[in-house]
Amino acid sequence: MSSQRIRQYGDPVLNTKASDVTDIDGKFVKLCDNMFVAMYDAPGIGLAAPQVGVQKRFFVYDYDDEPGVLINPTVTEADGEWAYEEGCLSVPGLSFEIVRPKRIFVTGIDLNGNDVTLEADELFSRLIQHEIDHLDGVLLLEHLDDDQRREAIKELNARKLAADAERAQRSTAGGLQLP
Ligand code: NI
Repeated sequence: MSSQRIRQYGDPVLNTKASDVTDIDGKFVKLCDNMFVAMYDAPGIGLAAPQVGVQKRFFVYDYDDEPGVLINPTVTEADGEWAYEEGCLSVPGLSFEIVRPKRIFVTGIDLNGNDVTLEADELFSRLIQHEIDHLDGVLLLEHLDDDQRREAIKELNARKLAADAERAQRSTAGGLQLP
């Protein structure tokens, strides 16, 4: 398999807190490669392990043409506030203005096993915070107020019903369809 299926809203793995990565071995590197393929395919600028069903604390990203993997990340400092329209590959087609700290410092481990500290501002900062949320089982819907969240969930459920109905119709009609 060259890519990974990106889990969608409703999949329980997206609401589960992931555990620390303990081994960076060949299998792990291969998984990261596959996650990059899925991320570029989507396309997106970040993809967290739980989004491909892996309950481990790491994510791949490509910000400003600089791809990276951040393992066991921790935000050590956050300041400022920044409102920005934010989307998620696991909540496709919807985006919301969300306020988050503008600048962060984050520590973690890179793919070579080295300790890293990143200073990130604006979009890069938001990308990292969004992916760390995934590692904590948090989707961007949880940043909305109650009314916004209710509306978003209604919309997502309606889409899921429509997609299910279409799939069911396709499979029933399958045998009768002419080229
Ligand atoms: Ni996301």
